[in-house]
This record gives sequence, C-alpha cells and structure tokens, in this order.
Amino acid sequence: MNPDALFEYQVDFRNYVEAARVPYNILASNVKEHLGGFGGKLILDLGVGFQLTHGGLTLALALLDGARQCYGIDIAHPDLHAADPNKVAFWKQARDLLGIEVQGLEGGRVVFASTDILHFDDFYSKITLLQMSASEIYFKDNMFDIVISNAVFEHVQNPKRVLTELYRVLKPGGGAAINWNPYAGFRMGGHDIGMPYHYPWAHLRLPEDRHVEMLGQVFSNPALYSTAFPPQHTPTPERAAIYAKDPALFRKQISYDLNKMRIPEFLDYAHSAGFELLSSVPHIPDEDRRFLTPEILAELSQYGEDELLQLFHTAVLRKPAG
Ligand SMILES: C[S@@+](CC[C@H](N)C(=O)[O-])C[C@H]1O[C@@H](n2cnc3c(N)ncnc32)[C@H](O)[C@@H]1O
Repeated sequence: MNPDALFEYQVDFRNYVEAARVPYNILASNVKEHLGGFGGKLILDLGVGFQLTHGGLTLALALLDGARQCYGIDIAHPDLHAADPNKVAFWKQARDLLGIEVQGLEGGRVVFASTDILHFDDFYSKITLLQMSASEIYFKDNMFDIVISNAVFEHVQNPKRVLTELYRVLKPGGGAAINWNPYAGFRMGGHDIGMPYHYPWAHLRLPEDRHVEMLGQVFSNPALYSTAFPPQHTPTPERAAIYAKDPALFRKQISYDLNKMRIPEFLDYAHSAGFELLSSVPHIPDEDRRFLTPEILAELSQYGEDELLQLFHTAVLRKPAG
C-alpha cells in the first residue's frame, strides 16, 4: 500500500504499475505503426519525470521492446525522491511484474546504473537520466532515432522552442510520438481544477474567485470529491482535507505551470520547426459527449467540439529524411 498516494489508483502498487504502462503503450503503438518500432534504436524521453514514482518506466519498457539505448531528460533532477520507499516499492512491483531491469532496490534506492565494475561496453547501463531543459537540450544534432514524450507539452514554458530543439536532436528520418493534454480538454485540460463531473469546464467557464469557492465546496464533501473528478484522479481523503482548508492551493498547485496551448498552435509550431505530421489524433471518450450541452458549446464558442472533448492528443512527427 502507498500511504502517500495522490490518487486512488496509486494506492495499490500493482494497479499503479498497470496504469503507468498505459501512456507508454499508446506511444509504443504509434512508434510501431508510423516510425518502424524501437528495435535497435536510440531513444529520448522528453520530460521523463523520474522524480515521480513511476517516471522512467517508459525507458525500461522501450528496452524490453528492443531499444538499443535510452536517455531520459527532465527539468527536475533524477535523484529527487530516488530513495522514497514508495518509489522503491513501485519499482520492485514493476520489476517483478514486467521483468524490467533496475538497480539499487535492495539498498532502498531506485537507480539505473552499470552493475559491472569494469564497465565493459556490454555492461554499462542502457538507461541514462539527465537534468536538462527541453528548451535547451545538451545533445548534439541528428542524434536520436525516436523521441517519446507523455504529458509534458502542456507544461513546458516555451513549446515552440522545445519543438525546434526536438527537431534538431532527431536524425533525419527519425520521429517523435507525443501525448499531451491541451488546455481546453474536458477531463485533463485543467488537470482536475476543471472538476469535470461536477461543473464541466469549470477552468474555462468560472472566474477565479467563484472557481476557488466551488473547489472548497467539492473538497469538503466526500460525496462530491469522490465523483467530481475522473475516477482515477479521485483524491484520497487526506489530500481532500488539505484542499478543503485551502482550495486556492489546489488550483495553484495543479495548474500553475500549464501553458494553455491549443492543438492548432502545437501543429503550427511543429510545422515551423520543419516536421512532417504523420498522425494527429484527439482521443475523445464517447461517454463524455453528453457533457457538452448546446448551452456550454455556445458559452465556449471560441473552441471546437473536438478540442473541448478530447482527453489527450497524440501527435506523430517526422524529421524529413533530407
Ligand atoms: C506531468 S509530468 C509527466 C512526466 C512523465 N512523462 C509521465 O508521463 O509521467 C511533466 C514533466 O515535465 C517536466 N518538465 C516541465 N518543463 C520541462 C522542460 N522545460 N524541460 C524538461 N522537462 C520539463 C516536469 O518536470 C515533469 O516531470
């Protein structure tokens, strides 16, 4: 059991490992379909999030899928929380369940490291994690075959620059598979400040003071906070108690870094960077359509229907072979 879980699905580590694989599986199927798979390739995960309990699982899974070598970069340092007991428990579960390789667990630490002191070429770690901003990537031009990225593009402060950097470090003919959450989306757009099942698109429709007031009501009432959010994001009672006292903190913590980028902007930046667009898919759960009433659609008329309903957007970009 995970006593520090933010969300219910993270309480049980087995569930958590299964849930953490889902975004990777979507990226991997796009890499397979459009970019020739991971086999024998050099991979970069942009915004790998190793400071998070599950961050880096993508890289271990890409190795299982045949990648030659994987790098993960994030603006947060990879050592952050590396010795958190919950993180160690998660990775033990991931190792046992998925057969991934990770070191340090018995010593109470998650680390990807070379395990042979002689460091022969065959033994050095195939995963390298580095602190680096995606706006200024310290890798040489034309280096990577594949870039993957999940839930990062809505957070970066300069997405145009990140796409330009991404283009630079990809080999000609290489490509990127990217999942991200555009701001207008129903469930994940406002990253739960939207409380979609209580007041749909609250993050787009309510002025800040009214929004904070309503969040306070939601977090004070178990019947509301257990139904207002997507089920996998239901807060634990402990988190709800904190936010009931200070709902403005929730709004600030969850949304302070969202750049509010929309899909046409993302596609435009990708195009200006030089990318070909191989695929652009808005993921829209059918059961969410009923929430977009004609009244709300009229109220939010500056957005398109797809844009409002998508859970996340997957784009596959290719650097032309030259
Ligand atoms: C929501 S987390 C996603 C982490 C991971 N990809 C996942 O799927 O769980 C967003 C990550 O983007 C990282 N990030 C934000 N801005 C960044 C930047 N400019 N360069 C690199 N990473 C950045 C954050 O530190 C955070 O780890």
